[in-house]
Amino acid sequence: MSRTPVIAGNWKMYKTTAEAREFAAAVKNELQNVSGVEMVVCAPFTTLSVLQEALAGSKIAVGAQNIHFAEEGAYTGEVAPRMLTDLGVRYVIIGHSERRAYFNETNETVNKKVQAALKHDLVPIVCVGEDLSEREAGQTFSIVETQTRAALAGIEAGQAAGLTIAYEPIWAIGTGKSSTAADANEVIAHIRKTVAELYDGETASRIRIQYGGSVKPENIGEYLAQPDIDGALVGGASLAPDSYVGLIRGAV
Ligand code: G3P
Repeated sequence: MSRTPVIAGNWKMYKTTAEAREFAAAVKNELQNVSGVEMVVCAPFTTLSVLQEALAGSKIAVGAQNIHFAEEGAYTGEVAPRMLTDLGVRYVIIGHSERRAYFNETNETVNKKVQAALKHDLVPIVCVGEDLSEREAGQTFSIVETQTRAALAGIEAGQAAGLTIAYEPIWAIGTGKSSTAADANEVIAHIRKTVAELYDGETASRIRIQYGGSVKPENIGEYLAQPDIDGALVGGASLAPDSYVGLIRGAV
C-alpha cells in the first residue's frame, strides 16, 4: 500500500507570534501547489492560533507539541486536547525525547496522551527512539519496540492505523549526526513489524512512520527513498521558511 508522506516541522520553543506570522506569509503561496505530501508545522501553544489564521486556505496543517491527557481540571500550566481542537489544530507530538528527558514523561503517560488525542480526533505523532548508550549496547530494536507497544496499549487497530510514529534516535537530534537512511529504515521496519504483531499486516501497512534527527533539505530525499520511511519530523531545519520549503520540495 502506498502511504502519503508527512513532513512535520517541530519548532520546539522557538518563535513569537510575529515570527510565526512572518513564516506563514513566506511559505503559504510558495507551497500552494504541492501535492503528494502532508505538510505540518508543530508550534508552541502561544502561536497556534495565529498560525491557524495565517495558514487558513493553505495545505499546511498546524500541530501542537504536547497535550495533557485529562479532559479539563486543576492542572496549572497544562493544555487539554479539546483546547487544541477548538483552535482547529490537527496534529500533536506526543512523547518527544525532550519531554521524556526533561518533563518526566513515561511510556505510561505517553499512552494516556495518545488515547486522549485520539478521543478528540487529533492525529498523534508519537516519538520513540534510543539514546547513544542504548544504541551502543545493541538495544535499539528492543527500546523502540517497548516504547511502541506501550504507546499503543489499548488502542484499536483502526485508530492505530491513522496515527503517525516518529523514530528519533536521541543521539541524532540537533547534533548534525543523522542516522544513515538505511539504518533508520531498518529500525522503522522493526517498528512496523511490531505494529503487525500487535494488530495485523493491514494496520502495519497503513501506519505512517517518520524519521527524525538532523534532517535537512539536502538529505530528506535519501530518507524518503527508503521503503519504510514515510516522512520526517524536523527540528532546526523547519524554522526558516526557505529551509521548510526546501524540505517539502525535497520530499516530493
Ligand atoms: O522533533 C524533531 C527533532 O527532535 C529533531 O531535531 O533539530 O535534529 O531536526 P533536529
